[in-house]
Amino acid sequence: MRKKVWERALGSRALELYEPRVRVKVELLMSKIVAAEGSPINVTKYFMYFSFDVMADTQLTGFSKDFCMLESTSYHPAIQGIHRTMSFIGILSTVPWLIYMVGSIPGLTTYNLFSRWCRDEVNEKRKTLVMDTVKEPQDIMSWLLKAPPSKRAVEEDARLLLIAGSDTSAGVLTNALYLLASNPHCYRKLQAKVQEQFPGGISQWTYEAAKAIPYIDHIIHETMRLRPIVPGGMPRTVPPQGILIDGQFIPGGTIATVPTYTIQRDERYWEDPLRAVGVSGETFGDDGDEDGVESDCAAV
Ligand code: HEM
Repeated sequence: MRKKVWERALGSRALELYEPRVRVKVELLMSKIVAAEGSPINVTKYFMYFSFDVMADTQLTGFSKDFCMLESTSYHPAIQGIHRTMSFIGILSTVPWLIYMVGSIPGLTTYNLFSRWCRDEVNEKRKTLVMDTVKEPQDIMSWLLKAPPSKRAVEEDARLLLIAGSDTSAGVLTNALYLLASNPHCYRKLQAKVQEQFPGGISQWTYEAAKAIPYIDHIIHETMRLRPIVPGGMPRTVPPQGILIDGQFIPGGTIATVPTYTIQRDERYWEDPLRAVGVSGETFGDDGDEDGVESDCAAV
């Protein structure tokens, strides 16, 4: 039931509904970049401001507050709290029990600030949501509150949603921009394709029209292959009976993971792994074809 609700909240029909709200943030981000007038700006921070603002947007998630980081061009204290905690998780993630131990010492991590923010917003949303009269939810949180889970579960969902959708997207945007900037001919090719699709300028942008430019997908896929957002993979506990992975028996209870970064640069699977020439094994541009990324693109 919960899975179904998640799928509907993030399905293509719902995404169409959210698009105009994302567009407002895209335009704000662009105006901030334009306002820099050629002076250097820290785009990593700007992409973080953008993605967290999109996820916390009053209309998109249904929270009553937005972080307004793009407006203030500074971190909201709750987000600063997560990022400080993440460096700590990065160091301690190989010793998970230590994370729980250290995390439960009051005042030692700043994650609580973010948790409190999410809890208050979920409570606020609960109060304003009149379940019976809402036929089709207009935001993600209304969907999630439709399948009443425990209070704790929905607060966990709120935290998951904000972090899963923000840090990841900001990281991909930063990496894509880095790879494009290091490969100006790819950047120019992308620019030409966007201009061809939107001859009246970027103000005509729609998701539907942008979707019809396969080169954008190639750039995103190759960015995520070369610089995956979760480079160490997602750990999973092997079921009690154990499993066979590639001929090797892994006993039950073992924590197993596929190291994404290493696999996605492994010469056994990629012809020229450090160059952006293919995705999912299919070569799409080593001859510089119509929609491909040239073979010398995005070397790292
Ligand atoms: C380029 C952007 C993104 C990347 C690279 C990314 C990557 C990931 C990864 C690696 C996982 C873990 C999967 C696993 O444990 O098997 C995940 C889970 C998840 N992501 Fe994303 N994500 C992105 C964008 C988003 C956005 C925009 C949202 C929400 C609007 C989102 C919501 C979620 C949720 C809810 C989960 C948990 C799913 C589950 O446990 O069943 N993600 N994502």
